[in-house]
Amino acid sequence: MKKGMFIVVDGIDGSGKSEIIKMLHNYLFSRHKKYRILTTREPTNGKYGKLIRQMLRKEKNPESSSRKLMGLFIKDRKEHLKSTIEPFLKMSNKHELNIVLCDRYYYSTIAFQGAQGLNIKDMIQKSKQFRKPDAAFILDVEPSAALERIEYRQKEKFEQLEFMKKIRQNFLKMPKLVDDDIKIIDASMPLKRVFESIKKELDKMLG
Ligand code: TYD
Repeated sequence: MKKGMFIVVDGIDGSGKSEIIKMLHNYLFSRHKKYRILTTREPTNGKYGKLIRQMLRKEKNPESSSRKLMGLFIKDRKEHLKSTIEPFLKMSNKHELNIVLCDRYYYSTIAFQGAQGLNIKDMIQKSKQFRKPDAAFILDVEPSAALERIEYRQKEKFEQLEFMKKIRQNFLKMPKLVDDDIKIIDASMPLKRVFESIKKELDKMLG
């Protein structure tokens, strides 16, 4: 059996992921003394993650650099697992349950680079080299509402309505495409209710 618990939250930009992850972190931290929580994200702050962010800030056309980005996201993920996620999960033992909360994972590669035109089956195949999450939650919201939420900040490469609609469709198909434990969560509800519905699922898993 694999040690620890690996939880992923994914979804389009502006779906409320980061707020929800903060709430989950606080909830799990206080739920039991034996839990240790690590919150982390992709793209990471490592060498590949930095390159990715630079490209996303500079490039305006959402369709461009699909192959190059896919390659970088995969390298970034490999490094992330090896240097951060796996070592932390491995420290789990009888007295401590180590839980990783990860903001985005290979579902993003499938949804985003799929929307860029890359072959989805291929990317699913490539995702098999990576550890499967114990649970994944995809926050689903209308792209127009998501864009409203991120109105105040500088828009990145993928943050354009028509493109976000494609990404959303890919995310909605994810439970059928990938053989993982994936729940689609209606994120148009108030944050507190989004949190409650994920909390319910986690409570079931943690017993
Ligand atoms: P994001 O979570 O927005 O990072 P930050 O808030 O720190 O800038 O991720 C950056 C973008 O990268 C986001 O639009 C989603 C996209 N992305 C992919 O296209 N493929 C991937 O595999 C991942 C992990 C992210």
